Amino acid sequence: MSQVDQYAVFGHPINHSKSPRIHTLFAQQTQQELIYTAQEVPAESFTSAITHFFKQGGKGLNCTVPLKELAWQRADSLSKRAQFSKAVNTLVLQADGSLLGENTDGIGLVTDLTVNHNISLHNKRILILGAGGASRGIIAPIMDKSPTHIVIANRTVKKAITLSNEFSQLGNITGCSYDEVKDSEFDLILNATSASLTGDLPPLSDNLLANKGHCYDLAYSNDPTAFVKWGLAHNAEKSLDGLGMLVEQAAEAFNIWRGVRPETKEIIALLNSERN
Ligand code: ATR
Repeated sequence: MSQVDQYAVFGHPINHSKSPRIHTLFAQQTQQELIYTAQEVPAESFTSAITHFFKQGGKGLNCTVPLKELAWQRADSLSKRAQFSKAVNTLVLQADGSLLGENTDGIGLVTDLTVNHNISLHNKRILILGAGGASRGIIAPIMDKSPTHIVIANRTVKKAITLSNEFSQLGNITGCSYDEVKDSEFDLILNATSASLTGDLPPLSDNLLANKGHCYDLAYSNDPTAFVKWGLAHNAEKSLDGLGMLVEQAAEAFNIWRGVRPETKEIIALLNSERN
């Protein structure tokens, strides 16, 4: 008897994850038969949970906070972008039983910006707020689009400098404090800090965003995040949250697993219409 293909997202906490809904919509749209579930997996249970999942016939897995680095360590092989980002959000079961680690977050962000919102990154001055895992995952896909430069600003300056040094072979990338960018101007500001989750904001000067500049918060929430509100208050042409990135990274994962890329626009529109 053939079993329906199983996929899942592991994370902690996971109860508000939109991934099961998104992948179920993708499956309906592309007429693929699969089951996608969300499983509460804290870091200490990751190894046993992953072994169990693939032993039970799992075909592919998404990993979210706080498991992306563990997934990176666990993968038997890594795509180029996963190697760079030192984080894996997508595991793919290979024919020989090994697990390939991928990171679709950065490409999801770039697709949302450039395709869905028509925001070009070419020759743009880009500021990334934060120097944690979320920042690490987006730098290489952004550099692929030839911005003028990326500046990474972080509360803990040392982390911003270390991160920028790691990627410096890709082009003009520098790391600094918030104070050091206070007199600079950027065409695009990306919030990759976890500050939004607690309604906080990094210290941002009022002249940071260029005329017709854009703001993008990698986090998403039903209500505008503190950073999305900051962008609106500072005349951003668009001030967006990460719902589109979430759907686009999922579409990349779905494509890797199933060999068909879902049409994302209608699904983003549906999820947007369901915001309170
Ligand atoms: P993630 O993997 O989601 O990026 P992380 O590795 O914990 O999570 O990184 C969180 C980032 O948000 C860090 O850059 C952190 O700054 P520090 O390195 O100085 O800790 C940043 N961050 C979190 N809360 C913040 C706040 N209230 N103001 C400014 N930066 C904040």
